[in-house]
Amino acid sequence: MGAMEVIIQPDMRQASLLGARIIARLVREKPDAVLGFATGKTPLLLYQFLVQMHREQGLDFSRVTSFNLDEYIGLDPSHPASFHSYMWQNLFGHITIRADKVHIPNGMASDIPAACCEFEETIKSSGGIDIQILGIGRDGHIGFNEPSSSLTSRTRIKTLTAETRRDHGKEFGADEKVPFHVITMGLGTIMEARTCLLLAFGKKKARPIAQTIEGSITAMVPASILQLHQRAIVLLDEEAASELKKTDYYRWVYDHKPVWQKY
Ligand code: PGA
Repeated sequence: MGAMEVIIQPDMRQASLLGARIIARLVREKPDAVLGFATGKTPLLLYQFLVQMHREQGLDFSRVTSFNLDEYIGLDPSHPASFHSYMWQNLFGHITIRADKVHIPNGMASDIPAACCEFEETIKSSGGIDIQILGIGRDGHIGFNEPSSSLTSRTRIKTLTAETRRDHGKEFGADEKVPFHVITMGLGTIMEARTCLLLAFGKKKARPIAQTIEGSITAMVPASILQLHQRAIVLLDEEAASELKKTDYYRWVYDHKPVWQKY
């Protein structure tokens, strides 16, 4: 196993379904799997497919442990724009997951660095993350690891860029209400997940995706560190793939994937 596997699907729906099938297969084979979740618009459809698989096929999350990538500092978990709220509203509230097995960074902790260390320890003591779902920012961030993040960083405080704060303004009703600080898993933390599943849809993601997959590995495009990951699967729609140079080759590889390797 090695290298990035780039899978281009006709649209977001088919790419999200493929992502959900990868997660579902893991949970069926390993009911006590450790899943890493992301927030944002990108994984919403994938979560809807997981909810549907839970309802219609009995996909059981009751033994699953979960970790989320990030959370705002100083925002109460009950705030509608918190990632706690997002996860319960869009996924956890509709599946059988146990609240005591859900781990989202605690942005209200009185000692944030200690909370970050504890988060890392809990990932380790849970056996490590089996699959980490990732979106990508327009600036190439994964989690909230903004450009110039150390490529070996661990869970810590980050200050959001002006662009990222603007991208989240809608959820808060105004750009200036977006917190400046977050807790995020580091790039080193993400790299330890056994599989990374990066999803990107739409034209806005075409450039960071091309830089991530075909550019140099650089802290200025944090997602590019995934080139060094042992198993990174990248699920794209046509628009997000539109600035890649080697699309013919990626399609060729996927079309000729041995049946036993198909998702
Ligand atoms: P989005 O955010 O899914 O809302 O585009 C992705 C990200 O910023 O990581």
